[in-house]
Amino acid sequence: MSTKSTIGEVKHHLGESVTIGCWLNKKRSSGKIQFLQLRDGSGYVQGVVVKSEVSSEVWEAANALTQESSLYITGKVKEDTRSKGGFELDVEHIEIIQITEDYPITPKEHGVDFLMDHRHLWIRSPRQRAVLVIRAQIIQAVQQFFNERGFHLVDPPILTPSSCEGTTNLFHTKYFDEDAFLTQSGQLYMEAAAMALGKVYSFGPTFRAEKSKTRRHLIEFWMIEPEMAFIDHEESLQIQEQFVAYIVQNVLTHCRAELEVLERDTDKLAKVAGAFPRISYDKAVELLKEKGFEFEWGEDFGAPHETVIAEQYETPVFITHYPTALKSFYMKPDPNRPEVVLCADMIAPEGYGEIIGGSQRIDDPQLMEQRFQEHELSKEAYQWYLDLRKYGTVPHSGFGLGLERTVSWICGLEHVRETIPFPRLLYRLYP
Ligand code: 4AD
Ligand code: MG
Repeated sequence: MSTKSTIGEVKHHLGESVTIGCWLNKKRSSGKIQFLQLRDGSGYVQGVVVKSEVSSEVWEAANALTQESSLYITGKVKEDTRSKGGFELDVEHIEIIQITEDYPITPKEHGVDFLMDHRHLWIRSPRQRAVLVIRAQIIQAVQQFFNERGFHLVDPPILTPSSCEGTTNLFHTKYFDEDAFLTQSGQLYMEAAAMALGKVYSFGPTFRAEKSKTRRHLIEFWMIEPEMAFIDHEESLQIQEQFVAYIVQNVLTHCRAELEVLERDTDKLAKVAGAFPRISYDKAVELLKEKGFEFEWGEDFGAPHETVIAEQYETPVFITHYPTALKSFYMKPDPNRPEVVLCADMIAPEGYGEIIGGSQRIDDPQLMEQRFQEHELSKEAYQWYLDLRKYGTVPHSGFGLGLERTVSWICGLEHVRETIPFPRLLYRLYP
C-alpha cells in the first residue's frame, strides 16, 4: 500500500511508497532507465524507472509520457543529494490520466506575445511558478506585518462614484442609471476607516486606464494601503521602511529555492534592512542637474530620473517633499514651506522605480475646502470625505505599496507583466 502525497511532502515519507498526482515536465532516457522530471505545483521530483525492475506495462506507460501529460505515479522515496529537491522516486507504478499531444510551450525559446497568449499554460513553467510563489509569500508577509502591529484589515469598495488620484486615467462604467468608476485607490475610504479603527490596511485590486506601455505599468494592479490615525509623516516613513525590509527578509527566508530558479542576486536583497536614505525633491533636482539632465524645479520625475536617483543607494530611497502642485489634493503642505507637501515616494533599487506613494493627509477643514475649490472637486460626491474633517479631525498618514512592482523588484524581473497571474495591459485583455 502506498500513501498519497505531494512532491513538497515527500521529505516526510523517506523509505515509504507514495502516490503523487503530477504532470511530466521533462524526460530523459538511457534505454534501460527513464528519468521523469515531475511537477505538481508544490515542487519538482525525479522519478526513476528501471526497465529490469518494473512490469512491461509500467515501462511502456513511462515511454508514452509526453510533456504535460498527467498521471498518478507510485514509487519509493529515496534521498538523492544530486537532485534539486534532494529526493528521488524509485518508480513502481504509473497510472496515466491523459497523454498530452502538441503542448504549445516547448523547451525552445518563444516570443513574448506567444507566451502572453498562452499565459494560462505559461504559468506552469518553473520560472513563472517561482514568481507566483514569491508573490503569494509577499502577500503573506504583508498580512503578518500588519497583524503583528495591531492593524485591522478593511476592504474599500471597487465600484466608486468619485476618483482619488485625478480623473485622467479613470475606468468608467455604468452603475444602473448612475456613472461609476473602478477604484484607482482605496485611500479615501481607508481614511474613514482609520477614524473608526485607528490603524487599518487594505489589500485589493485597483484600476488605472493608463495609456503607458512601460515595463512598470499595469492597468489592473493590487495595492496595499495602510492608513493610520495620529501618525505623522515622519512616523509613517519609519513604518514604510520597516514594512519593506520585513517583506524582503521574509522572502529571503522562505523562498530560497524560488529565488534560485530566478537566478536572483540575493546579496543585493540582503542589504534591504535598517533605515532607508531620504532625499528631498529639491536635492534630487540638484543631483539630476549635476548628472547632466535638463530639469526644472516643479517637473515630475520620469523613469530615467528615478533610476539615476536610485542608483546612488543599495536600499530603497525616499524622495520627500514634492512640489504641492505635482501631487494629489489631499496631501498636507509642509507648515514651513507650503509650496511642498509632506509626502514621499519610495524608489526601489536596481531601476525598479516607485513602489510606494504616501503622505500625511490634510486634516484642517478650511484647507480641505480650499483644495476642493482649486481642484474643482464636486462637494456633493465627496461630502462624506469632508465629514471626516468636520467630526473629530486628527493628524493622519498613509501610503500605498504597489504589489506587482514590489514582486518585480524582489524577483529581479524585466517586466511587471510576469508578476501577476493574468496581467491586464494596454493592449491585452486575453486570456
Ligand atoms: O502613487 P500612487 O498613485 O498612490 C496612491 O494611489 C495613493 N492614494 C496611495 C495611498 O497613499 N494610499 O500609487 C501607489 C503605488 C505606486 O507607488 C506604484 O507602486 C503602484 O501603486 N502603481 C502601479 N503599479 C502598477 N501599475 C500601475 N499602473 C501603477 N500605478 C501605481
Ligand atoms: Mg505615485
